[in-house]
Amino acid sequence: MVNLSSTKVAILGGGKGGTLLLDLLSQVPDLEIVGIADKDLTAPAIKRARDLKIKVTDQVSDLIGDHGVNLLVDVTGDPEMERFIAGHKGPGVEVLGGAAAKLLWNLVQYESKLQAQLFHIDKLAGIGSFVAGIAHDINNPLQLVLGYAEGILDEQDPAIIREYATEIIQAVKRTSAICTGLTQYTRRITADEFVEVDLNRKLEDALKIARHATVFQDLSVVKEYAPKAVIRARPEELLHALVNLIANAIQAMEGRGTLTLGTRCEANSISVTISDTGCGIPKDHLEKIFEAFFTTKPPGKGTGLGLYNVKAVVEQHFGKLSVDSEVGRGTTFRLRFPQPEQPTQRP
Ligand SMILES: Nc1ncnc2c1ncn2[C@@H]1O[C@H](COP(=O)(O)OP(=O)(O)O)[C@@H](O)[C@H]1O
Ligand SMILES: [Mg+2]
Repeated sequence: MVNLSSTKVAILGGGKGGTLLLDLLSQVPDLEIVGIADKDLTAPAIKRARDLKIKVTDQVSDLIGDHGVNLLVDVTGDPEMERFIAGHKGPGVEVLGGAAAKLLWNLVQYESKLQAQLFHIDKLAGIGSFVAGIAHDINNPLQLVLGYAEGILDEQDPAIIREYATEIIQAVKRTSAICTGLTQYTRRITADEFVEVDLNRKLEDALKIARHATVFQDLSVVKEYAPKAVIRARPEELLHALVNLIANAIQAMEGRGTLTLGTRCEANSISVTISDTGCGIPKDHLEKIFEAFFTTKPPGKGTGLGLYNVKAVVEQHFGKLSVDSEVGRGTTFRLRFPQPEQPTQRP
């Protein structure tokens, strides 16, 4: 039996199975992925491995012959591969292949689908709660448009007509700005690839979307942004996570208080903080808030999936999510991501 804490895994096969496995295994602490092999160096898992700085090769024998490896996971689905491994692997190396690999593949795929569904349910629920706010925000400029249009009907002075028309254009622009932000948010995530993401910009986008969720009343927003807070991330997932955290903060303050959004660049990490001066989280809830379906909100206001998804997104970005809270004073959520390495020339 392989001891997990010293497991060094090599993945053979860079297709969808390889990608899902890579995503899953790279989150397991104390497990090292030594490398991944596929004949096709443009296969999806090979691209993903490069993002993760994991060794890639088109020669299976490179990995099978690597003496550090003690577990080979074969998701090539190629019967020839089984024979090849059997003939070339070192003595202490275990192989997960054939039906066992297929089962693992199925489980991983099932888990990934479930995760995607929970993510989507949470998003739909979020959209549901934004609708009232959005209707309100769109109705305001529409009323203005109506007023100015009626004014134009009765107006003879070309200068005033011009002024009204300008107001109408501004109001329509404001409305379409709201719609643009929303279509970006409501789109179902398809190919959300890892790209360079400016965290300050993402916080701004998230704030725009989340503020539809509740009435802002006496809320002040403080921004403490580091000048160059850029990480490699899947932009849509990250946006959803930030919307969740900001919406939670606004809800906790019931429209009154200070929301502080911050980014910080440190030697090895880049962090984002979302702080509120809201109700705070009791100690005995702190462990539970990241569980799926844990909520203290009445039905219709919360699904309990927000923080569960935020945690999953942060971990898929190799980051850490932490919380600091005091009842009656407020809460700070911190997302800490590894500092991206300088771009290197790839072959
Ligand atoms: N900023 C916050 N301040 C106080 N409590 C919070 C905050 N964020 C989350 N919580 C608590 O954690 C619970 C779970 O949050 P979440 O997973 O986003 O689900 P939901 O918002 O749907 O309830 C909330 O119901 C609330 O009790
Ligand atoms: Mg929430």
